[in-house]
Order: sequence, then structure tokens, then C-alpha cells
Amino acid sequence: MNNTITSTQTVTHHWQTLWLNVNLATMTEAGAGYGEVTGAALAISAGKIVWLGKEANLPEYKKSEVDIIDGQGRWLTPGLIDCHTHLVYGGNRANEFEMRLQGKSYQEIAQAGGGIVSTVKATRAATEDELLGSALPRLTALHQQGVTTVEIKSGYGLDLKNEMKMLNVAGELAKHLPVTIKRTFLGAHALPTEFKDDADGYIALVCHQMIPAIAKEKLADSVDVFCENIGFNLLQTERIFTAAQQYKLAIKVHAEQLSDLGGTELAAKYQALSSEHVEFLSEQGVKAMSAANMTAVLLPGAFYFLRETQLPPIELLRKHDVAMAIATDVNPGSSPICSLQLMLNMACTLFKLTPSEALAGVTCHAAKALGLSTSKGQLSVGFDADIAVWNISQPAELCYQFGVNPLSALIQNGQQVI
Ligand code: NIG
Ligand code: FE
Repeated sequence: MNNTITSTQTVTHHWQTLWLNVNLATMTEAGAGYGEVTGAALAISAGKIVWLGKEANLPEYKKSEVDIIDGQGRWLTPGLIDCHTHLVYGGNRANEFEMRLQGKSYQEIAQAGGGIVSTVKATRAATEDELLGSALPRLTALHQQGVTTVEIKSGYGLDLKNEMKMLNVAGELAKHLPVTIKRTFLGAHALPTEFKDDADGYIALVCHQMIPAIAKEKLADSVDVFCENIGFNLLQTERIFTAAQQYKLAIKVHAEQLSDLGGTELAAKYQALSSEHVEFLSEQGVKAMSAANMTAVLLPGAFYFLRETQLPPIELLRKHDVAMAIATDVNPGSSPICSLQLMLNMACTLFKLTPSEALAGVTCHAAKALGLSTSKGQLSVGFDADIAVWNISQPAELCYQFGVNPLSALIQNGQQVI
């Protein structure tokens, strides 16, 4: 007689939380729809997604240990990611909004000493507590709409002390709200008045003092430059990219927002993560982004608020398979709008993205723009359990309706925070 014993081995899972009776927009196959799973379940352990799929296919799990939640047919998406903001700043620029309505352009106001430089004055005059106090309601607004990760740029200090102050405040925000914050050093946002006739001198300060100090103190993950005729030229931009590379900081660029200077192509040579705004980007620039696997961060709020008429080259970005992220660009001058939900709507109405492209823009593609594509922005096993739970009957509703908050619950790192 044959004495071999055959057994079907069953593994019993030990999970912390199990959502039953939900629908998932996994956003795992960027560009290929929502990655929908209906009639689904999703399990969480130690802050990570550990199982997801059709509820009918659930494996064995230890029922006495797990906290089971009936999702009542709601939709789960990855927690939203706002990958481009300037949400720490002093004062506001409602006066410039009035000036623009009387016929002055954004560029004219900047050239006459207003614009970014006027926010620099207000930001330098503010204490850390004051900046924190004004930034918190903005971040709260995003968070309540399902945002679990936010990028925040400096760039209204324009000297080491005040840039560090801004980045410190950006870091502090995460102690007040359960949101993951990624910080970007944008020292080259505008020329401070004390360097009015010495742009190269200011760039030297950014490269030789500010970047090394900020890297040493680990105050930022990335470096950004406003490469534009009212910002910094290609040579100056390249000096900053070189310094960022030397200090192992990721590279991002504000480019082709108001004109086509070629900042995106330069950024591609430096393996930048993203080029942001890009309304004036040429096909050559799009090809360079594609070859360097960069993400295009589209900012419909700034497009709308500045009444821009030049659309970003969406068809070319699609043709060359460049990932498109969508963000608020929250800032006092070109996009004082703290709603990623409105951006989803504008990405569709103004830029003609499909709702699934727009949703990818605030999930998997936004994660890619921040260098987080292996841990955030998707509902996938092994990814961070940052999950938004929505009172909707189909994912397109997130882009379609505006003004009613559809968020039902929010999970960050496996913990329910709303
Ligand atoms: O992303 N373009 C440069 N920076 C911001 C605007 C900053 C401001 O006007 O204060 C932007 O649009
Ligand atoms: Fe910006």
C-alpha cells in the first residue's frame, strides 16, 4: 500500500480589518480604466492592503480577530494624492485678483513687483505658528475631500531662514492632520528683491547654501524650479538641477506654463520626476518626457484662474504615453482653490480628460509624480492602506458632480481617520 498522505493545505489569514460588500476602483492599470472590481472585499493588516478581490473568492480568515465592516455597496478608491501645492504661505492676493479684472495680466503684475514677491513679503513677516494657522484650514479642506497625501512646495521665503521656516511648517502639518506630506524645495521660484539685479548671485546662493543645508536637515524630498521668462532661464535652471542631483534630491520643474522655454526637455536630461503646468509644451518636449518616463502634472485650477487659453497638449501626451497627473496648485496667485474634487471636474471639462484619466491623475499618476508609485495611489496588495470610501454609484461621479462631498470614510495607513 502506498503510504503517501496528500493534504490540501489551507492557510488561515489573520487580518485586522476587512471591508465586505464594497466596489473597488483599484487604479492599477493606469490608462486602462478604473480597474473595477464589483462585489468585492478588501483586507488590511499593519497599515497595508493584504488581500482584495471578489468577495465570493475570499480565502479562509480568522473571524474572531478581524474587525469586519459592511461597506454597504460603497466605492473604494486609493486615498487621493494632491501632488502639486504651495499651500503654506502668508497673506493673500485678492487685490491682484481685482487688478487682473481691471485688465492687468499675471505677468504685468509680477513685473511691477507684485505676484510671488508680494507673497514673499507676507510669508517672511509671518511666524511659524501663523503660517501653520493659515495652512491648516487649506489642508483640512483637501483632507475632508479624501486626500491622504499632499506635496507642499516652499518658494515664498527665498532666503535660507524663511525657506526652512516654510518647510518646517509643511512638516508640522502632518502632526495636526493624518496626511502624508512630501516636501519640495522651490527656492528658485522668483528673484527676491535683495537680488534684483543679480539673478546669478541668487542661483549661487540656492545651489551652494540652500540646497546643501536643506538636504542635510532632510527638509525636502525634491527640488523644483520656476523655469519661465518671469522666473529663471535654462542656464540658471540647469545649475539648480545639477546641485539637486549632487545632493540626491529628486527633480521637478514648473515649465512651459506661460511660454515654451524648453525647461521640460532640460528636466528630462536630468531624469526629473515631472514637469508641471506644460500648457506650452511642444511635441519634442512630450517625446523627451516619454523617453525619460516623466509625469506631466496638469493644473487646471491655474489654467482657469489665469483665464489661460492655451491648452496643455493632451493628445500628444496620450500619443506618447506620458502619465498625466492632476493637482490643485493651491497658491495665493494663480490657484487659490483648495478642492481636488473641482480639479477632477475641470480636468474633464476644460482639458477633456476622461473621468478615468482624471481619477488616475489624482491616484496612481500623482503617486508617480512624487516617486511613490510602488507604495501609494493604487489599491493593490502590498500597497499602503490609504483608502477613500465614497457614497457614489459609479466612479465617474467623482468627476461629474461638484459641491456635495461624497466622502463617506477615509483610511490612512490602515487607520480610519474620517
Ligand atoms: O504654480 N508658476 C509659479 N508658481 C505658482 C504661482 C505662484 C504665485 O503666483 O504665487 C504656480 O502657478
Ligand atoms: Fe505651482
